[in-house]
Order: sequence, then C-alpha cells, then structure tokens
Amino acid sequence: MRKYLIAGNWKMNLTVQEGKQFLIDIKDQINSFHNVEILVCPPYTHLDSLSRLAQGSNICIGSQDVSTESNGAYTGEISTDMLSELNCKYCIIGHSERRQYHQESDQLINKKLTKLLATNISPILCVGESLADRESDQTFDVIKRQLTNAFNSINKDTVNIQNLVIAYEPVWAIGTGKVATPFQGQEVHSFIRNLLKETLSDELADHIQILYGGSVNPANIEDLIKQEDIDGALIGGSSLKSDTFLSIIKSSSQVYELSKS
Ligand code: PGA
Repeated sequence: MRKYLIAGNWKMNLTVQEGKQFLIDIKDQINSFHNVEILVCPPYTHLDSLSRLAQGSNICIGSQDVSTESNGAYTGEISTDMLSELNCKYCIIGHSERRQYHQESDQLINKKLTKLLATNISPILCVGESLADRESDQTFDVIKRQLTNAFNSINKDTVNIQNLVIAYEPVWAIGTGKVATPFQGQEVHSFIRNLLKETLSDELADHIQILYGGSVNPANIEDLIKQEDIDGALIGGSSLKSDTFLSIIKSSSQVYELSKS
C-alpha cells in the first residue's frame, strides 16, 4: 500500500520565527505517525532554519518552486543545487497560483520537472481544472493536457521518475472553502492513475502518490483520504496552524491503519 503524504504549502505566509515555532509545536507529537510522511513547504527564506530544526524528526522540508536553470544571471531564481544543499526533499511545481500569476506554461513546467528528476528532490507536480473547465465538461481534457505536456520527453526510463508525486488541485477548490467531494476527487485521481499507466508503466502508476489539494481541513480529510486513489493531501490554509495540521495528520494515520486491517 502506498504511504500517505501530508504536505503543507505555506505559500507567502508565516515569518521565520513563526515557522520555527510551528515546527517545535508539532515535532514531538508526530513521532508515532510512521505511516504518514509529513512535509512542510515554507517560503525560500525559511528553508535553512527549518531544515536544521527538522533534522532527526520525521518532518521533511520542501520548496514551493524552483528555477529551470542551473545557475547564472537569473535574478530572483533559486536552483536545484541550492535546494539540495538545504536538504529539501520535495519541490512543488506547476501550482495553479504560479500558472495564473506568473504565466507559467506547461512547457516551462516540463523544464522544471526535467530539472528536478535529474536530482534527488521529489517533484510534486500540480494539475487541476478551473471552474469554467469543470462547468464545460473539460476537466479530463485539461488534466490530460497538463500531464501530457509536463511529461514531454519524460518516460518510464527517466532517472528518478519513481520520485514523482502528482497533486490534483481543482482551481475552484483552492482557498475557497469549496472542497471536491470524495467522489469527484476519486474520479479524477483514478483518471490520473490510468494516464500514468499509459504514459509510464503499471508498476510506476501503482507506486506514484497522487495527492488531493483544495480546501482540505480536519473535517473533510477523512472522507477524502479513504478513497482508493487519494494518497495524501497538499494543504494551504489548514497547514498554517499547528493544531489543524496535526489533526489532519492524525486522521490520515488512523485511516491508513484501518485500511490495512
Ligand atoms: P488551500 O490551498 O488548502 O488553502 O485550498 C491548497 C493549495 O493551494 O495547495
């Protein structure tokens, strides 16, 4: 059974001091949750101190983005080497806020994915349809296009492809309080898993974790994560307070234990 991944995407929130306090608050309380991998993706400025603080615990630290380039005159950018040096284990790419506010194209996201797969950092590739896409019955077409373009020149033999994580985040559910129903989530997740089978292999499709993101909170996580193809969550708002984040981790861990028995 795939291990669950519960990931917090802090976006542009919390100061370094607040971030450190958050980690201190959860660190000693999560040691019993071995069946859930816990990830926090703070702003770049927090990575160094939070990575140090997380050492020896089962909290991983990840980045919210990365450059397509290795080094050079790219003002404001951060490279994979810089992230590796700070022990980043994961990196989010293709988040809908990057696509929307920074005009990130599928082609650019493909470059970031390629770059990350050449390292030991696991990419968390985000895909998701807008409300207009869903209302015009375009959901599956949009997901297929985003994934196919992101996978351009990437195949089952690509080095480190087994590190890939996908996050399905319907844009209409992000930060809106309108969560996808477990049925809507499962439907798209199983569609994605089938696409992974076609594009990569049965084995990889079975191994790759597919997270759900969009208004996840302690009240809805249980029903979402019970779905066969939902292997965790990418959480914005509810990852900013240690007690709500902990409560999501705890529920996920309980569901995992129950589904194994
Ligand atoms: P949300 O954000 O949980 O606040 O909806 C999720 C995300 O953008 O990853």
